[in-house]
Amino acid sequence: MKFESRAGANPIDRLKVVGKSHDRIDGPLKVSGQAKYAYERHDVAPNQAYGYMVGASIACGKITSLDVSDARNAPGVVDVISTLDYKPVPLSSNNTANLFGGAEVQHYHQAIALVVADSFEEARAAAHLVRTTYERKNGSFDLAAVAKAAPLYKNGDDDTGEDRYGDFEAAFEAAPVQFDAQYTTPDETHAMMEPHSTIASWDGDKVTLWTSNQMIAWSKKALAKSLEVSEDKVRLDSPFLGGGFGSKLFVRADAIVAALASKKVRRPVKVTLQRPLVANNTTHRPATIQRIRLGAHKDGRLQAIAHESTSGDLPGGGPETAVNQSKLLYAAGNRLTSMRLAVLNLPEGNAMRAPGEAPGMMALEIAMDEMAEKLGMDPVEFRIINDTQVDPMNPEKAFSERNMIECLRRGAKEFGWDKRNAKPASQQDGDWLVGMGMAVGFRNNMLMKSAARVRLGTDGVVTVETDMTDIGTGSYTILAQTAAEMMGLPLDRVKVVLGDSDLPASAGSGGQWGAANSTAGTYAACVKLREQIAKKLGLDPEQADFTDGNVLQGNRSFSLKDAAKDGELVAEDAIEYGDFGDEYAQATFSGHFVQASVNRFTGVTRIDRMLAVCSAGRILNPKSARSQVIGAMTMGAGAALTEELAVDKRFGFFVNHDLASYEVPVHADIPYQEVIFLDEADTASTPMKAKGVGELGLCGVGAAIANAVYNACGIRVRDYPLTLDKYL
Ligand code: MOS
Repeated sequence: MKFESRAGANPIDRLKVVGKSHDRIDGPLKVSGQAKYAYERHDVAPNQAYGYMVGASIACGKITSLDVSDARNAPGVVDVISTLDYKPVPLSSNNTANLFGGAEVQHYHQAIALVVADSFEEARAAAHLVRTTYERKNGSFDLAAVAKAAPLYKNGDDDTGEDRYGDFEAAFEAAPVQFDAQYTTPDETHAMMEPHSTIASWDGDKVTLWTSNQMIAWSKKALAKSLEVSEDKVRLDSPFLGGGFGSKLFVRADAIVAALASKKVRRPVKVTLQRPLVANNTTHRPATIQRIRLGAHKDGRLQAIAHESTSGDLPGGGPETAVNQSKLLYAAGNRLTSMRLAVLNLPEGNAMRAPGEAPGMMALEIAMDEMAEKLGMDPVEFRIINDTQVDPMNPEKAFSERNMIECLRRGAKEFGWDKRNAKPASQQDGDWLVGMGMAVGFRNNMLMKSAARVRLGTDGVVTVETDMTDIGTGSYTILAQTAAEMMGLPLDRVKVVLGDSDLPASAGSGGQWGAANSTAGTYAACVKLREQIAKKLGLDPEQADFTDGNVLQGNRSFSLKDAAKDGELVAEDAIEYGDFGDEYAQATFSGHFVQASVNRFTGVTRIDRMLAVCSAGRILNPKSARSQVIGAMTMGAGAALTEELAVDKRFGFFVNHDLASYEVPVHADIPYQEVIFLDEADTASTPMKAKGVGELGLCGVGAAIANAVYNACGIRVRDYPLTLDKYL
């Protein structure tokens, strides 16, 4: 089904099931241990062997010898797979670092061997007997040291590496009020609960991977390429993920090496990356150095905005796109954005939840706070007068729906912003200095083709089948809600099957596009199924009313079940957008409000209250959407206050590569959190009129916390995370 611009009313708009809070239908399976994660799928293939990954212990150079003889002779060991026995596997364009094969080491903890044994313990013990010698090369590991010399990042030959509108330099020069500052954000790791895990098994020339992956169709293609087999020889199954946050968007070494090992030992092989390997073996959010310049009239209207960001990656990699939001968020007739990319020999930089905007807004939204102060304006009002309803670099393109101002007004009112004292360090509660801060959140809304199949069974149950994944977000539930609404059934009469590459290809879970697009694909398949049912019952598909398990037209009434009495009915379709996706600027917005306290003596920061007001189209399930947003606010608290991969600049690796030393927030760190969704329906997004919230929830949170800390203690920290040593 091709989605047409500003499509009118449709059966989803009845909102009997969609738009209502429902507990996650996979919840009971998860809390009772019945939802099997990749590594736990003992029943899918017999005689599974355990693989234990060995990572390189240098960052850059060459393996000169890799002796696996002792490991191979150790008790219980089936075989040892060495990177020297393979050529580097071909990679999809989504990957940068070599995943396996060859003698070259591109980053620390790169996979160089897999010990396969009858038990995990035997594999682990034998892994310590693998002996490797290296020829080390000097690498570049210090972003700050190489940032100045980093070239502009050009995406193609005719890209200048800069996006310009108007004349930034002249307008900035002429601006009565100028602001210019540099901000830094550190390398971060996804820290999802479930490490990357795969069970691989070959049947002849066909391989099946029970794995943990966000993007099934992409990864099936990538695996076929890496394993050098045709796509029809690869099957992936990933019904449950214990989180991903972008680290499982693409195929990683666990999947490749499990498949290669299983082929060699002719036995199913299971691999989970041991926790200390994850941070350096996989991908991370790259550190950034960002310069922001703002020029404003005395009344607060911005006339010039420049946002320049520098990040690093392995050769052939890409930048952290931290300037994205600065192209679209605020009005100003003169603009400059650019990214510089330095070569670093650290592990691969790649997508982590809200890639680009998350670190970009951590900088931009402090800069906006600093500029508001310089102008003597309230930070909420400063943002409101700089709102735009059109893409500021492409003014004939309007936002399909943009209620940033309403997010801010509503948030300020609900939070009690009027009680904030603009003068920093002026509120005290015992030993604590108390402050309030706010920031805007922004994240794009992307339209992606998404397919699904729906079946009406002879028992009257509707089954939705698609390769969509549920990374803990609630996909099962919103897809069930969609089919229930379309077919006029209660939620418990709908079954949802996900994550299998044999099912129709969905948009997958990434870039906060999963919810809106995968439900729209299910909607499209349901429209087709309704047509089939109406035809079967001799009704007009335009007139037939699917409601309460019945199909009604005029004075005729059938049970939905009747349509399938001669056998199940099956319909498959995809939602497609054509050029329509370019007609409007589409994005989601939020206002974040935070109260924080800083201890006068110790410098300890405590977050007291958080509120997010979100503008994100129709909210399909307020309960699961709220869970997404409070989870993201929690992640934002980590990004602001504790999270940082510490780089060893001599040896080139992330030192704190486990959950004991990479500090994410715990319950005691997180206060009362409140989320408000504006009542919206974006008719230009999808037939569901919904957009994403999963990444929006994170954008801006860090800056709101930083701004609250500044308001509390009067010390402006521009270098994340805001650890107490920086207040000294
Ligand atoms: Mo997201 S970083 O696209 O999973």
